[in-house]
Amino acid sequence: MFNRETYIARRKQLKQKISDGIILLLGNVDSPMNYADNTYYFRQDSTFLYFFGLDFQKLAGVIDTESGEEIVFGDDVNIEDIIWMGPQIALKEKAEKVGISKTEPFKKLQQIIEKAISSGRKIHFLPPYRAENKILLNELLGISVSKLKAYSSLELIKAIVDLRSVKEEQEIAEIRKACAVGYQMHVTAMKMAKAGVWEQSIAGTIEGIANAGGGMVSFPVILSQNGETLHNHNHSQTLQNGRLLLVDAGAEVGSHYASDFTRTMPVSGKFTQKQREIYEIVLGANNRGRELTKPGSTYLSVHLAAAEVIASGMKALGLMKGDVKEAVAAGAHALFMPHGLGHMLGLDVHDMEDLGQIYVGYDNETRPVDQFGTAYLRMGRKLQPGFVITNEPGIYFIPALIEKWKAEKINADFINFDRLESYLDFGGIRLEDDIFVTDTGCEILGDRIPITPDEVEEVMR
Ligand code: GLY
Ligand code: MN
Repeated sequence: MFNRETYIARRKQLKQKISDGIILLLGNVDSPMNYADNTYYFRQDSTFLYFFGLDFQKLAGVIDTESGEEIVFGDDVNIEDIIWMGPQIALKEKAEKVGISKTEPFKKLQQIIEKAISSGRKIHFLPPYRAENKILLNELLGISVSKLKAYSSLELIKAIVDLRSVKEEQEIAEIRKACAVGYQMHVTAMKMAKAGVWEQSIAGTIEGIANAGGGMVSFPVILSQNGETLHNHNHSQTLQNGRLLLVDAGAEVGSHYASDFTRTMPVSGKFTQKQREIYEIVLGANNRGRELTKPGSTYLSVHLAAAEVIASGMKALGLMKGDVKEAVAAGAHALFMPHGLGHMLGLDVHDMEDLGQIYVGYDNETRPVDQFGTAYLRMGRKLQPGFVITNEPGIYFIPALIEKWKAEKINADFINFDRLESYLDFGGIRLEDDIFVTDTGCEILGDRIPITPDEVEEVMR
């Protein structure tokens, strides 16, 4: 938790951005895994954390934009809770730590909301992503669950995106801590990877490192010899010499700030010539992406420049053909990189994705591109100092996609389909760093995880 002034200042800025009415921000509750008392690890809502800092179950915050009043709703524990959970700090005392002097029992929330509705006041709320909060909002507001997203407050979404996009120094310090844990996770994976090792044993070990770092993984570990499957959570294989292992994993620390890194390594400990050639192209795209990341540039333009590095490298290997710029404009590179260059990172690994990607990654000036591949770019808009984003180009050989494009002659002017036959069992390579936009350019957050082929081989040795 940051100091009380942080939360007071953030709520003050939020109030200034909302013209009238009441802001309702819901925390999360425990969610059952297989029966009510056996719950998933508790994860507080990130926006609630950002404005109210309190990392406990079943809380709600109300901010009156006109009177300025701020209330936290929640319940103190009873003797039975104390028997099972131990003594707990009173809500009033917790709330004071984040600059809130007024607390109310949770059930009072209904009355306050009903009163506001009956006096015709606007209730600003966010699109809910958890079933429990959808039901709660339905009960509080009388809006059917299927309509909640449509009735959520665009004014509130935009105000929050504005504030959370630009990270404070103390937030950067927390992300650096998450990066340090991520570094350990990836170097450990490199040291463990060798023929005969079960993927799950590496995945489990690095998840444990995240846990031992005081938090948890920032998303379920992606770790597979079939790195061409972009989000592969299947860890059932045994590593084999000659294959590549892709590891995409990050940590969130106790404050819930996240890291997100990807590295790809040869199981044998030594890249083959063929693997090195593709690897160097991805590394070139990653480095180019970083060189171009600076305030005033759009991340869409950086994505397209990284795509050009990929297309030009693939052309040099004889896998693509034709004019590189024309190939990228046609979206031909997306056969190999069918995803975006990166996304915002912060309290969420895909920061604020619950608020709507269109508001986080785009604005009136930069609109999403409706083309296979680039359409998946989560962050396209103009960069500002204080943004934290991922830089994660990749090259994948996805047999089903290659087969489809070949059969349908998609971008046939730019792809040498026959040459791809010998790459169908190649797998995929992705290289991901977390970068921070400074006043003049950008910097990699944390020590850079070994990334050149030689560095990776060295760690594996
Ligand atoms: N690291 C997973 C993702 O960015 O989607
Ligand atoms: Mn990522």
